[in-house]
Amino acid sequence: RRLLLLNGPNLNLLGVREPGIYGSATLADVERIAADAAAAYGYETRAVQSNHEGVLLDAIHDAREDCGGIVVNAGAYTHTSVALRDALTGVALPFAEVHISDVYAREEFRHFSYLTDVAAVHVVGEGVDGYATAVRRLIALLEGQAD
Ligand code: DQA
Repeated sequence: RRLLLLNGPNLNLLGVREPGIYGSATLADVERIAADAAAAYGYETRAVQSNHEGVLLDAIHDAREDCGGIVVNAGAYTHTSVALRDALTGVALPFAEVHISDVYAREEFRHFSYLTDVAAVHVVGEGVDGYATAVRRLIALLEGQAD
Protein backbone atom coordinates (compact mmCIF):
# COMPACT_ATOMS: atom_id res chain seq x y z
CA ARG A 1 0.00 0.00 0.00
CA ARG A 2 2.54 2.46 -1.21
CA LEU A 3 2.75 4.79 -4.22
CA LEU A 4 5.79 6.35 -5.81
CA LEU A 5 5.29 10.09 -6.32
CA LEU A 6 7.67 11.12 -9.06
CA ASN A 7 8.34 14.71 -10.05
CA GLY A 8 10.61 15.49 -12.95
CA PRO A 9 12.76 18.40 -14.11
CA ASN A 10 12.25 21.91 -12.73
CA LEU A 11 9.48 20.88 -10.35
CA ASN A 12 11.90 21.56 -7.47
CA LEU A 13 11.37 25.21 -8.45
CA LEU A 14 7.62 25.14 -7.78
CA GLY A 15 6.55 28.26 -5.94
CA VAL A 16 9.12 30.48 -7.61
CA ARG A 17 8.86 29.13 -11.15
CA GLU A 18 6.40 30.99 -13.41
CA PRO A 19 3.83 31.40 -10.60
CA GLY A 20 1.28 32.72 -13.11
CA ILE A 21 1.27 29.26 -14.67
CA TYR A 22 2.13 26.92 -11.81
CA GLY A 23 0.91 28.84 -8.74
CA SER A 24 2.66 29.54 -5.46
CA ALA A 25 2.66 26.09 -3.87
CA THR A 26 6.07 24.50 -3.41
CA LEU A 27 7.28 20.97 -4.09
CA ALA A 28 7.02 20.29 -0.35
CA ASP A 29 3.36 21.37 -0.52
CA VAL A 30 2.78 19.01 -3.46
CA GLU A 31 4.40 16.14 -1.61
CA ARG A 32 2.21 16.81 1.42
CA ILE A 33 -0.98 17.07 -0.69
CA ALA A 34 -0.23 13.69 -2.26
CA ALA A 35 0.75 12.08 1.05
CA ASP A 36 -2.44 13.33 2.75
CA ALA A 37 -4.65 12.12 -0.11
CA ALA A 38 -2.98 8.70 0.04
CA ALA A 39 -3.13 8.48 3.85
CA ALA A 40 -6.93 8.86 3.71
CA TYR A 41 -6.98 5.43 2.03
CA GLY A 42 -4.29 3.85 4.17
CA TYR A 43 -1.57 4.35 1.57
CA GLU A 44 1.81 6.02 1.91
CA THR A 45 3.85 7.80 -0.73
CA ARG A 46 7.55 7.81 -1.48
CA ALA A 47 8.42 11.16 -3.04
CA VAL A 48 11.28 11.49 -5.51
CA GLN A 49 12.10 14.59 -7.55
CA SER A 50 14.96 14.77 -9.99
CA ASN A 51 16.19 16.94 -12.83
CA HIS A 52 18.01 13.92 -14.26
CA GLU A 53 16.28 11.52 -16.59
CA GLY A 54 18.30 8.49 -15.46
CA VAL A 55 17.49 9.10 -11.80
CA LEU A 56 13.79 9.13 -12.71
CA LEU A 57 14.22 5.85 -14.59
CA ASP A 58 16.00 4.27 -11.61
CA ALA A 59 13.22 5.39 -9.26
CA ILE A 60 10.64 3.81 -11.57
CA HIS A 61 12.61 0.56 -11.66
CA ASP A 62 12.97 0.58 -7.85
CA ALA A 63 9.20 1.06 -7.45
CA ARG A 64 8.76 -2.54 -8.60
CA GLU A 65 10.04 -3.66 -5.20
CA ASP A 66 7.47 -1.99 -2.97
CA CYS A 67 4.97 0.22 -4.80
CA GLY A 68 1.56 -0.62 -6.26
CA GLY A 69 1.46 2.36 -8.59
CA ILE A 70 3.12 5.60 -9.61
CA VAL A 71 1.91 9.20 -9.72
CA VAL A 72 4.16 11.04 -12.13
CA ASN A 73 4.58 14.59 -13.30
CA ALA A 74 7.43 14.15 -15.74
CA GLY A 75 7.66 17.88 -16.52
CA ALA A 76 9.18 18.54 -19.92
CA TYR A 77 10.32 14.91 -20.27
CA THR A 78 6.62 14.19 -20.83
CA HIS A 79 7.02 15.63 -24.30
CA THR A 80 10.44 14.19 -25.14
CA SER A 81 11.25 10.95 -23.37
CA VAL A 82 10.68 7.56 -24.95
CA ALA A 83 12.96 6.19 -22.20
CA LEU A 84 10.60 7.35 -19.47
CA ARG A 85 7.64 5.81 -21.27
CA ASP A 86 9.56 2.55 -21.69
CA ALA A 87 10.47 2.49 -17.97
CA LEU A 88 6.82 2.94 -17.00
CA THR A 89 5.51 0.30 -19.37
CA GLY A 90 8.51 -1.90 -18.48
CA VAL A 91 7.73 -2.12 -14.78
CA ALA A 92 4.06 -2.55 -15.68
CA LEU A 93 2.81 -0.62 -12.63
CA PRO A 94 -0.36 1.39 -13.22
CA PHE A 95 0.45 5.07 -13.25
CA ALA A 96 -1.25 8.45 -13.11
CA GLU A 97 0.07 11.24 -15.33
CA VAL A 98 -0.33 14.67 -13.73
CA HIS A 99 0.22 18.15 -15.09
CA ILE A 100 -0.35 21.18 -12.92
CA SER A 101 -1.07 23.46 -15.87
CA ASP A 102 -3.50 22.88 -18.72
CA VAL A 103 -0.94 21.72 -21.23
CA TYR A 104 -3.55 21.73 -24.01
CA ALA A 105 -4.08 25.46 -23.59
CA ARG A 106 -0.36 26.18 -23.89
CA GLU A 107 2.28 25.87 -26.62
CA GLU A 108 1.71 23.26 -29.31
CA PHE A 109 4.83 21.31 -28.22
CA ARG A 110 3.14 20.59 -24.87
CA HIS A 111 0.09 18.96 -26.46
CA PHE A 112 1.85 15.68 -27.20
CA SER A 113 2.75 13.34 -24.34
CA TYR A 114 4.68 10.09 -24.59
CA LEU A 115 2.79 8.91 -21.51
CA THR A 116 -0.89 9.61 -22.07
CA ASP A 117 -1.86 6.56 -24.12
CA VAL A 118 -0.29 4.20 -21.58
CA ALA A 119 -1.38 6.07 -18.42
CA ALA A 120 -4.17 4.58 -16.28
CA VAL A 121 -5.14 8.02 -14.98
CA HIS A 122 -4.63 11.43 -16.57
CA VAL A 123 -5.08 14.73 -14.69
CA VAL A 124 -4.30 18.10 -16.26
CA GLY A 125 -4.96 21.72 -15.39
CA GLU A 126 -6.19 21.26 -11.81
CA GLY A 127 -3.20 23.01 -10.27
CA VAL A 128 -1.40 21.23 -7.46
CA ASP A 129 -4.72 19.77 -6.23
CA GLY A 130 -4.48 17.58 -9.32
CA TYR A 131 -1.99 15.45 -7.39
CA ALA A 132 -4.71 14.60 -4.86
CA THR A 133 -7.12 13.77 -7.69
CA ALA A 134 -4.49 11.55 -9.29
CA VAL A 135 -3.73 9.74 -6.01
CA ARG A 136 -7.44 9.12 -5.36
CA ARG A 137 -8.16 7.88 -8.87
CA LEU A 138 -5.10 5.65 -8.92
CA ILE A 139 -5.93 4.11 -5.55
CA ALA A 140 -9.55 3.58 -6.66
CA LEU A 141 -8.19 1.70 -9.64
CA LEU A 142 -5.77 -0.35 -7.52
CA GLU A 143 -8.58 -1.21 -5.14
CA GLY A 144 -10.74 -2.26 -8.07
CA GLN A 145 -13.32 0.49 -7.68
CA ALA A 146 -14.63 2.63 -10.48
CA ASP A 147 -14.01 6.34 -9.96
C1 DQA B 1 4.08 20.39 -16.52
C2 DQA B 1 3.82 20.81 -17.97
C3 DQA B 1 5.05 20.58 -18.83
O1 DQA B 1 4.79 20.99 -20.17
C4 DQA B 1 6.21 21.41 -18.31
O2 DQA B 1 7.38 21.14 -19.07
C5 DQA B 1 6.45 21.18 -16.86
C6 DQA B 1 5.31 21.08 -15.96
C7 DQA B 1 2.89 20.73 -15.60
O3 DQA B 1 2.88 20.22 -14.48
O4 DQA B 1 2.03 21.53 -15.98
O5 DQA B 1 7.59 21.14 -16.40
O6 DQA B 1 4.27 18.98 -16.48
